[in-house]
Amino acid sequence: MHVLVTGGAGYIGSHTVVTLIGAGHRVTVVDDLSNSSEESLRRVGELTGQPVAFHRLDVRDRRGLDEMFARAASSGHPVEAVIHFAGLKAVGESVVEPVRYYDVNVGSAVVLLAAMHDAGVRRIVFSSSATVYGDPVCVPIPEDAVVQPANPYGRTKAVIEGLLRDVAASGTGWQVSLLRYFNPVGAHPSGRIGEDPTGTPNNLLPFVAQVAVGRRREVAIFGDDYDTPDGTGVRDYIHVVDLALGHVAALDRPPAPGTPLVVNLGTGTGASVLEVIRTFSEVAGVPVPYRIAPRRPGDVAACYADVSVATEVLGWKAQRSLADACADTWRWQRSNPNGYR
Ligand code: NAD
Ligand code: UFG
Repeated sequence: MHVLVTGGAGYIGSHTVVTLIGAGHRVTVVDDLSNSSEESLRRVGELTGQPVAFHRLDVRDRRGLDEMFARAASSGHPVEAVIHFAGLKAVGESVVEPVRYYDVNVGSAVVLLAAMHDAGVRRIVFSSSATVYGDPVCVPIPEDAVVQPANPYGRTKAVIEGLLRDVAASGTGWQVSLLRYFNPVGAHPSGRIGEDPTGTPNNLLPFVAQVAVGRRREVAIFGDDYDTPDGTGVRDYIHVVDLALGHVAALDRPPAPGTPLVVNLGTGTGASVLEVIRTFSEVAGVPVPYRIAPRRPGDVAACYADVSVATEVLGWKAQRSLADACADTWRWQRSNPNGYR
């Protein structure tokens, strides 16, 4: 299948492109490189043995998208499906710049769907997030839990999910899969591609990796007085290669037109901040100093997925452990201490 991957130069996108090509799909990437580097795609080409077809494009650029779809069609390989990763994802930034978040995230989805409509492409897999559940009413969280995002980033995801539900219900043959990721971590086992945050990492694993490699002094654990077994926050850390395989499964098993398929992609198990630090330190064989800091505003105690829909409907299950993710993150971090730069 010819798959257009928006945001394909980014963290999850680049791993998914490797997996798609490995599964025999033809891939075209569009990305404006606003949070990534073309070097990731060069390395994807190295890993897969073929250069990646790439257009540097803002997804809100309607004319650019139209030209891309037209070129693919006239080459005899029309785009058949889209995986839409492109967007902004920093919760804190979204609180300060909500308009930019709605513009980029919702704006990109609207333009992309209009271009797909005109190009006759009716199949989309969308990167949603467990953040749409907000402070979850129960764990593990099933897909029919109430959607109540607690920040502007999460609300852009909920708005796009709503838009895609309407598109699916329009009676025009759209097949829509909404994938709600829990906490993506890890890197490709080659150590050639991985997560490359700019500035101070917001997320736990990249921060721990930078402490382990000596770029930062210690990890601040945001709260040890939560109602969890050791008092620190519990999350569902899903290896990015498993996540990539989840996208291939979603392409292979599209829902019938009419109602979107909504699927949690997680492991189904939670790990605490202390467990993550301990596992990373053991796997890397280096100490990871930490201190207990105040809670981070907006954090919840525990968030992990009910993964029964993924297992039953997609035939997909995460295979890689937290230790695997730590080992792969460490390999990536050690061999690329400054990421792609
Ligand atoms: P990322 O920032 O590494 O990748 C996003 C890519 O989209 C980047 O390469 C960026 O340059 C590109 N991009 C941004 N705006 C664009 C635009 N207007 N036009 C074209 N390209 C644009 O992020 P990621 O971690 O790979 O996340 C991918 C998707 O998964 C995002 O939609 C994100 O919201 C979602 N998601 C991520 C996480 C996570 O923790 N990483 C969790 C849940 C959901
Ligand atoms: N944490 C620390 N210290 C740090 C960073 C994080 O103690 O320096 C803790 C947090 O308090 C939390 C856990 O580590 O308990 C995980 O935090 P992350 O920031 O890595 O992940 P979150 O679960 O807070 O958020 C992530 C993404 C969001 C997404 C959400 C749900 O960053 O975009 O998962 O999918 F919405």
